[in-house]
Amino acid sequence: MADPDRPEPPRGPLAGVRVLLGVSGGIGAYKAVLLARLLVAAGAEVDPVLTSGAQRFVGAATFEGITRRTVRADVWEDIAADTHVAAGRAAQLAIVYPATAHTLAKLAGGLADDLLSTTLLAATCPLVVAPAMHTEMWQHPATRHNAEVLTGRGVHLLGPSDGMLMGGDTGPGRLVDPEAALALLLRLHGGRERHDDLAGRRVLVTAAGTREPIDPVRFLGNRSSGKMGFAIAAAAAQRGATVELVTGPSSLATPPGVRRTDITTALEMRAAVLASVDAASDLDVVIKAAAVADFRPGSASGSKIKKDAGVPTIELVANPDILAELGARPRDAARPLLVGFAAETDDVEANGRDKLRRKGADLLVVNDVSGADAGFDVDTNRVVILGRDGERTEVALTSKSEVAHRILDLVVARLSPPD
Ligand code: C5P
Repeated sequence: MADPDRPEPPRGPLAGVRVLLGVSGGIGAYKAVLLARLLVAAGAEVDPVLTSGAQRFVGAATFEGITRRTVRADVWEDIAADTHVAAGRAAQLAIVYPATAHTLAKLAGGLADDLLSTTLLAATCPLVVAPAMHTEMWQHPATRHNAEVLTGRGVHLLGPSDGMLMGGDTGPGRLVDPEAALALLLRLHGGRERHDDLAGRRVLVTAAGTREPIDPVRFLGNRSSGKMGFAIAAAAAQRGATVELVTGPSSLATPPGVRRTDITTALEMRAAVLASVDAASDLDVVIKAAAVADFRPGSASGSKIKKDAGVPTIELVANPDILAELGARPRDAARPLLVGFAAETDDVEANGRDKLRRKGADLLVVNDVSGADAGFDVDTNRVVILGRDGERTEVALTSKSEVAHRILDLVVARLSPPD
């Protein structure tokens, strides 16, 4: 029988997790009560911090009743207990829900003139910010800039969604539903658990497009920016792997802890990849996110081709297919797990399935590059990941970093246990 004097340990996906719930002064503040309720039901220990504006919309007593914790609202309370930073330091997850234009601006600028802003400056955990405001305010260049600053800093911006706003307006600016906020917090918490699952593993990632010279100033290239491959390298390193990145020309910074080899052409990429695969018998995974040119000019002119010599005919020859070459090797203990990519515009999945078979890959990430929000040179992607074993995983539009983690989840599940 349960001992009435000893409370039951918390249960649920967020059992015992300290969640900082920042509430700023928008009408959506009432939804923060529902979010607090959902978080408590998920087992979290919720620390609500309300701005003075928030308290004009909802009372602290409501949050205290739901979270069973004291609501802090004043930076001058209990100076000896470092109230201004305590909840931020303790937080394992943080969310500002709703975030007004003013709160976004303060956060972007690093201001610290009330308890919520000092608390957020002291928090080092993953932070979700859910903006809510009138459409004009959301679309103002200042707000756009602040939102970009925060995203660039790794803050997870959630919403706003499009819908009914205060005063009968409709448009973008509506606070996302509490269920969506909870779903993201759960995912981020899951991400923290993925922390070290590639420790002791060696991963080779290729990224960006190759350039095939026509003459000393011209080349055949493609639109790949390298963002997807760099995101995979960064995610694998975060998860504890030793990562080597072989990349075509890209302006992106090398992710922390990653060893980078720069190449230009497909032949150089082949040489770098095969050298790595053959040198390291303990290589666990090769992820080929690079857009390798399928063809190259048969011979590049040693000097610049002159316009007045007429339109040149450029003979193309096929480049070796590095992925297929690795995929043709015997599937034994020494062969690393192979992950390929396919950028398609038509019959996306059927072509992907065919490519998976032809190239002998273990996983194939299929990209539909016909949309503007996914594929080349954007920060988001939407993919289907096909497994040789028939598994199919759909990843809806999300950040390339999250896509990278989802690919790595499938990789981890397929790696044989370490020796
Ligand atoms: O055939 P396709 O170029 O669509 O295949 C894409 C996949 O094959 C990617 O993983 C890419 O890195 C790899 N690839 C390769 N060598 C090539 C062409 C593509 O490794 N020459």
